[in-house]
Amino acid sequence: MGIIENSSDVAPTKGVSRRRFLGAVVAAPTLTAVAILHDGAPAKAGLFDGLDDVLGGLVPDIGLPDVSDVVDLGDLLILAEYPYRYNLLIEVTTDNTVRLELPRLEKGQGITTACAVILADEIGARLDDTVVDLSDARLDRPFTITGSSHNVRAFWEPIRTLAAGLRARLVTAAANVWGADPFSLTTADTHVVHPDGRTLTFGELSAAAAQIVQVSTNAAPKGDDEYQIIGTRRGRVDALDIVTGAADYALDLPIAGSPAIIARSPDIGGTVASFDDTAALAMPGVIAITEVPSGIAVVARTFHEAFEAKARLDITWNPGPLASTSDADLRQTLKQAPSVPVTPGGLFTKVIDAEFEYPYLSHSPMEVMSAVADVRADSAEVWFASQSPVIALQSIAAAIGMSQTSVTLHVPRSGGSFGRRLFFEPAVEAAQISQAVGQPVKLMWTRNDDLRSGRFRPMSINRIRARVSRGKVLSFDHRMKAAETDFRHGFGEALTAAGSDVGAVAIGQSIFHTTVSVPYDFGVTTQLLTEVELPVPTSSWRSIYSGHVVTSNEIMVDRIAASIGRDPVEFRRDKLSDERAIAVLDRAAAEADWGKPMPAGVAQGVGVHVEYRSFAAYVVEIDTNGVEPRVTKVTVAVDVGRAINPSGLEAQLQGVVSDAITAMLRAGNRLDDGRIREGSYGDFLWARMKHAPVTVDVHIMEPNDEPGGAGELGFPTCAAAIVNAYSRATGEQPTVFPIGRPDPDPLPATLPPSGDAPSSIVPVTVNGTTTDVETQEGAPALYLMRDVLGVTGPKYGCGVGVCGACTSHKDGEAFRPCVTSVGDCAGSDITTIEGLAAEGELHPVQQAWIDEDVAQCGFCQPGQIMTAVALIAANPDPSDADIDAAMSDNVCRCGTYPRIRKAIKRAAAAMNAG
Ligand code: FES
Ligand code: FES
Repeated sequence: MGIIENSSDVAPTKGVSRRRFLGAVVAAPTLTAVAILHDGAPAKAGLFDGLDDVLGGLVPDIGLPDVSDVVDLGDLLILAEYPYRYNLLIEVTTDNTVRLELPRLEKGQGITTACAVILADEIGARLDDTVVDLSDARLDRPFTITGSSHNVRAFWEPIRTLAAGLRARLVTAAANVWGADPFSLTTADTHVVHPDGRTLTFGELSAAAAQIVQVSTNAAPKGDDEYQIIGTRRGRVDALDIVTGAADYALDLPIAGSPAIIARSPDIGGTVASFDDTAALAMPGVIAITEVPSGIAVVARTFHEAFEAKARLDITWNPGPLASTSDADLRQTLKQAPSVPVTPGGLFTKVIDAEFEYPYLSHSPMEVMSAVADVRADSAEVWFASQSPVIALQSIAAAIGMSQTSVTLHVPRSGGSFGRRLFFEPAVEAAQISQAVGQPVKLMWTRNDDLRSGRFRPMSINRIRARVSRGKVLSFDHRMKAAETDFRHGFGEALTAAGSDVGAVAIGQSIFHTTVSVPYDFGVTTQLLTEVELPVPTSSWRSIYSGHVVTSNEIMVDRIAASIGRDPVEFRRDKLSDERAIAVLDRAAAEADWGKPMPAGVAQGVGVHVEYRSFAAYVVEIDTNGVEPRVTKVTVAVDVGRAINPSGLEAQLQGVVSDAITAMLRAGNRLDDGRIREGSYGDFLWARMKHAPVTVDVHIMEPNDEPGGAGELGFPTCAAAIVNAYSRATGEQPTVFPIGRPDPDPLPATLPPSGDAPSSIVPVTVNGTTTDVETQEGAPALYLMRDVLGVTGPKYGCGVGVCGACTSHKDGEAFRPCVTSVGDCAGSDITTIEGLAAEGELHPVQQAWIDEDVAQCGFCQPGQIMTAVALIAANPDPSDADIDAAMSDNVCRCGTYPRIRKAIKRAAAAMNAG
């Protein structure tokens, strides 16, 4: 490796102004670069140097700033990575590809596309020539965390700086070839371009550029007006893989490993007292059964065989710590927890009190938690989609008694997370099982495991008091009492590294105060958190504390406004002090035609949120005249400083709408005698197409700053706007959420065992290929396709026919292979997402999915597409009601419903036009 110094005429970029920027060229035949920040001081000493750069000029101009207005969680996470922020790998390969290895998790939020856009625009490459791969866990980047909507903020400057340096080397190399003035050369479409029209590809120049020691041209990032890709709508870079079923999630990876599941205690926190595995071991296909700390693991040839053996385990469980406890008991515990009193009332002031309750809420990403592990005598490889890969790696190493350097943790894409993948139990369990049975395993949590043995957004009670006099809010006090959020996934270490004093106060307090704020001039404002340690496992959920605090505050703002006879929008405009917040409010109100006449039972509601250095306002329309309230339209205005990819930003703000509908109107988790009641999407009522608005219009404000965060920005304001609309439509003032949720009987969380039917040879035709397979005829076809035939486009999302993730076609009709036996498939033509494109030509539905940039995490999309193809085949011109009816058996946890609807209409139109 040779160290080179950039030319002295390089204009330093923000954040490197007081340092010398050194590029470290890896010893490689082609242009491969990492960069280190070298200031001659120990790394620790550099931690705080960037504070002014990061924070400078960012303090909003409001009367009484909250902590988060001065320094927010994203700032602290960025600071924690400051010593190695430029330690990124970018390479230019001879096949003319520009490749970035990104130390983050792609979980549907579009970080790989956003970073590809930044890289391509800065270096001058085509987006199609730019690849972003996810990095393995790197011990040299200890505070690598994907969370708190800080990722684009973290990489905006380092990627541009590195890419600009690489561009300068490519240009210098081309100038040497041509004997040209390097300042006359430009880069475009992955070429260096001479003014006379000659070009050389980056790939052709890569080897020579790798030898460049002294660049002879400008190596500074471009000016704002020079960017051509940044700020333009771009489809996801992985869209083609997603719509063809080629996108591999952990269990789809072509890695040898036997399916494994774990029999877990029905009680939260219950443990194995004793077990008898005699009957289970006698089942066909069973490879091994072993006890692990979380239960009894069964390893078999297929997941079906593992399920069958699990059903025959005879386990006696020790009860969990909540064995005779319900969620009502826990709510009472929270209510009795002490907290700082709110401001007392006074003469001539109106006191407005409210208390808002939120239940435990599962993250339930569409891809259940899963991991692959191959543990050998002196090394281990694990594949797990982790938001905190270094802590995960360290935990795996500790669990299997190996050094950290003996463990490799690969980070594949994930089918959603919403905070769940900050924790990594499956990675540890898979490694423990692999070590115990002496062979590689693919561990899958069932949906039942995910809901009943997983983690949850903590339950909370939010008491708010506002004191109002003569139209002014004199004080605003918020007291949140919540089950403790578990942050033992690296946030604490990152905050400590960034200088936050988490030794004296709990990590939760630090995170609370660096996230929640009140953007209104409400006089003396206090927001305090009391956390109570309860034995229900938790993890922060999209928007962390703001999901409760800001949602409650925004509902309260409407109630304050109503108490003094003010319009909610006009009152907010009056009390907001930040011009950018006012601007998004005005834009959303104008675009939604706020205040327009509406029928009885139909109303608009509004919410505003300021966090992650970004601003959002939502106007929601709700119709309460049906059996259930239906959100019919949502209008959003957002200011994120600078949108890297407006399509991706819009997707995030649309996606939270179904989160908000679910959390406020439909679903929460309940505890009965220490056990979570809900077990699948059949009784955990995530919003489906028929609950989603037909239209979610997103209006993005003009660029005015560096990029802010967006992934979690929309939830609190949308959630509050839904409740505010509901209150205005009904005259009710709900305080317990979700509002009047439906309460179906719990469904069986797994299919009953198939019994002892003998195996037989069954011919099965999948995507035109017929295979004779030996199987129990009652075995679900899903596991045959995935585990035996290697056809992994159909996904496991529930295993009981209620999510649609496995949807495929049987003789042209949509069917669910998770609840259809292999015997029922014999003699039929099965088509999966992999077989939909005829002779390499995308089906019009697949093309429409790409054109509408539908996918987020992508996990549900094969099933969505196969359902949509069947719909259009049966109904060439489906109405919105037809789409609601046909698509509502498919869950999209990322909330892509508005785009799915548009894609179906686009595909139908294209097919009808011939
Ligand atoms: S996996 Fe959920 S419907 Fe088949
Ligand atoms: S579940 Fe992620 S795109 Fe549908």
